[in-house]
Amino acid sequence: MSEKRILLIVGGGIAAYKSLELTRMLRKAGVAVRPILTRAGAAFVTPLSLAALAEDKVYSELFSLTDEAEMGHIELSRSADLVVVAPATADLMAKAAQGLANDLASTTLLATDKPVLMAPAMNVRMWEHAATRRNLATLTADGVAFVGPDEGAMACGEYGPGRMAEPAAIFEAIMAALGGGARPLAGKRALVTAGPTAEPIDPVRMLTNRSSGKQGYAIARALAALGAEVTLVSGPTALSAPAGVTRVDVESAREMLAACEAALPADIAVCVAAVADWRPADTSGKKLKKGSGAPEPIALVENPDILATLSRGARRPRLVVGFAAETNDLEAHAKAKLGKKGCDWIVANDVSVEGAMGGDDNTVALVSAGGIERWDRMAKDAVARRLADRIAQEFA
Ligand code: PMT
Repeated sequence: MSEKRILLIVGGGIAAYKSLELTRMLRKAGVAVRPILTRAGAAFVTPLSLAALAEDKVYSELFSLTDEAEMGHIELSRSADLVVVAPATADLMAKAAQGLANDLASTTLLATDKPVLMAPAMNVRMWEHAATRRNLATLTADGVAFVGPDEGAMACGEYGPGRMAEPAAIFEAIMAALGGGARPLAGKRALVTAGPTAEPIDPVRMLTNRSSGKQGYAIARALAALGAEVTLVSGPTALSAPAGVTRVDVESAREMLAACEAALPADIAVCVAAVADWRPADTSGKKLKKGSGAPEPIALVENPDILATLSRGARRPRLVVGFAAETNDLEAHAKAKLGKKGCDWIVANDVSVEGAMGGDDNTVALVSAGGIERWDRMAKDAVARRLADRIAQEFA
């Protein structure tokens, strides 16, 4: 990565602070970062912080005599292997979609002949506005790649999609776009399940759980970053598909099983989804009405076990990894599941710890026939990278 160069355009949004961390990560990986800070961006982070972390000069003005004398804006736009816009505000996306060139950032985006990766960040209403949807479609058709946005609580107090992707996710998208780093899983096919399943009771009600999909999506992203061709079979989540990953959306456990079987053959399967063990025996075609007496009990029937089906099937992937979400006797339950489900490894997951389900951190132990490895509590992205590295070792 030491010869790779990024032109990082930092737009004006509260998420600009995350771009400082992104810059630090890129520099640590040996990637050169040349920053452009928009006038609005400078209201959120200082040029000094950005310059110190990038170890390079910060460019801001289109008509700066000194900057133009040192490096003209056309040369600037061609000086990197990849142009990254983080945060990509609604305004920057609109300018880029229309081909406007009225400041340094937009002019650079119009003049560049290099690939562009955007990490959008804006209020949920702005993200969902028809104008932004049009701009997103135009930019996608123009070949711009996107990472995020994520869903969550926003600085403005609202909730929904629009939060900029975490620096680790943007970093991995950059690495994938640069085609850099080791790609030990190149040529291998991986299947990852993620998120909850939703089992319908009637047209408006369902049985589901609190899985956000974050852990499974992070694993899909980490495997893709190592070169694997990844199919992500996802229950309903608020997350956007990681760059370079094929996502198949499903709702129920039975749909998830069918999508997994359709994704075979695969070399690797990682079943992270929190699949409902049971579903209502009958699904009403009409909304169930409240009667006058006690509510009717909902009869349940068992769902197929996707992990066990993949592990014992004729087209078994060479390495099958399950997860075990436990609130007590973690390792004993995980060992029992290893035998019962017939997989190679179980990532035992302590969901009594706050943040495991729905949050950003996870505390896991890797259980295999060879023994137990206990990992410290860490970010789900870090769990994903470590697991992907372990998987790559198996295929070395
Ligand atoms: O999505 P997040 O908010 O990031 O949370 C991540 C997580 C906690 C959901 C994840 O890390 C996790 O632990 N996933 C497994 C959850 C689970 O359903 O565990 P389980 O012990 O019930 O199932 C064991 C294994 O069998 C899992 O690999 C599961 O995908 C699989 N299974 C379970 C039931 C079923 N019918 N089919 C299955 O394939």
